[in-house]
Amino acid sequence: MRRIFSVLFLFTFINCFAQKLRTNYNEAAVPEYELPDLFESFKGRKIKRSEQWEKIRRPEILQLFTQEVYGKVPGVLEKPDVITYEASGDAFGGKAIRKQFDLVFSVNNRELSVGVLMYLPKTEGPVPVIVGYNFLGNHSIAGDVAIRISESWVNNNPSFGIVHNQFTEQSRGYDAERWDVEKILDAGFGLVTLFYGDVDPDRDDFEDGVQPLLYKEGQEEPAPDEWRAMAAWSWGLSRVMDYLESDSDVNNEQVVVFGHSRLGKAALWAAASDQRFAACISNNSGCMGAALSRRCFGETVAVVNRNFPQWFCGNFKKYNGFEDRLPVDQHMLLALIAPRPLYVGSASEDLWADPKGEFLATKIASSVYQLYDIPGIVAVKMPEPEHPVGGVISYHLRTGKHGVTSYDWDQYLAWAKKYVVQ
Ligand code: GCU
Repeated sequence: MRRIFSVLFLFTFINCFAQKLRTNYNEAAVPEYELPDLFESFKGRKIKRSEQWEKIRRPEILQLFTQEVYGKVPGVLEKPDVITYEASGDAFGGKAIRKQFDLVFSVNNRELSVGVLMYLPKTEGPVPVIVGYNFLGNHSIAGDVAIRISESWVNNNPSFGIVHNQFTEQSRGYDAERWDVEKILDAGFGLVTLFYGDVDPDRDDFEDGVQPLLYKEGQEEPAPDEWRAMAAWSWGLSRVMDYLESDSDVNNEQVVVFGHSRLGKAALWAAASDQRFAACISNNSGCMGAALSRRCFGETVAVVNRNFPQWFCGNFKKYNGFEDRLPVDQHMLLALIAPRPLYVGSASEDLWADPKGEFLATKIASSVYQLYDIPGIVAVKMPEPEHPVGGVISYHLRTGKHGVTSYDWDQYLAWAKKYVVQ
């Protein structure tokens, strides 16, 4: 038995290694490809006006992504109870209000508890907010000792105190560099954040997280056209949006959904599928986020599905190695956000996420913004690092690695002030 396990382990290891080697980072080796047409409807009609886009083409594209990529949400849960854990008017040296509460969903003796942390600037009237998931628990985004630690399952990482699949004190503030909370507050925005594992732990099983709350009798995993983790995470963002609509301290017409990396993918699908989000920021979201799949540069469909089978719906697996058969590509996902403000950020060394594919998708999606007389991205070539392009729909390439830096926040906040708050 042991020997079988060792052989299997070795095989997986060699396979992963070979996969990395096969990854294409060479622009000259990008295959020729043809993108699905944004403007031709199923019936072959040419879409020329924003009304036609909204009535005909947008719903078609939304349906294709739901059916073939993310999976549908199979039902509606009753409104959650909002259980306040703590509130204070004295966070960040008196600069901010802090609120912490759980959204508790219950059905058939099952319960899902999602912990939300909010910091709001102490200004008159309802404030605009940035909403986004964190990777390492609410307590990781700042050194604030009052932040409660999530008890949800999380991948072990003893180097920052995640043992027995649980967070410990050691990870408090661990990701503070990525979350410039004071900068966000100083720009006049509130921050609303939650741990993505509260909605669905990021592992390849379907016994935990939100899905079982909507299983039919005897169901043990989502059907091929039903949600897995990515759609569940986007669903969670919409449930936070429901809450924000009832919070008079927040301007619910100025809610910007933000996400980095896999959480950037979730933010994009949330903004595409829920038009209450006023704007979207996708940071280094890469494959099945903002990058064009057909370029097969960096991470590919087959690789993302193999490494993270729990993310996208069962139907999506048939496109492994067959990007050209996908009825959509990611320029269409970005276009679903039009005419709302959208900012896509890449990093120069983050080749795994294909910065050029992110730029091209953003540029091509901007043709839908033009239906609304919004100029879009006119730059023909990929911009140099630290030279953002666009307006309502914007793109930047930042020097450096995969991550969220203060350069990124400076751009996102200035842009949100201009296009979301006005
Ligand atoms: C992996 C994965 C990416 C994802 C990233 C992240 O690198 O392949 O698709 O964006 O993790 O979420 O950090």
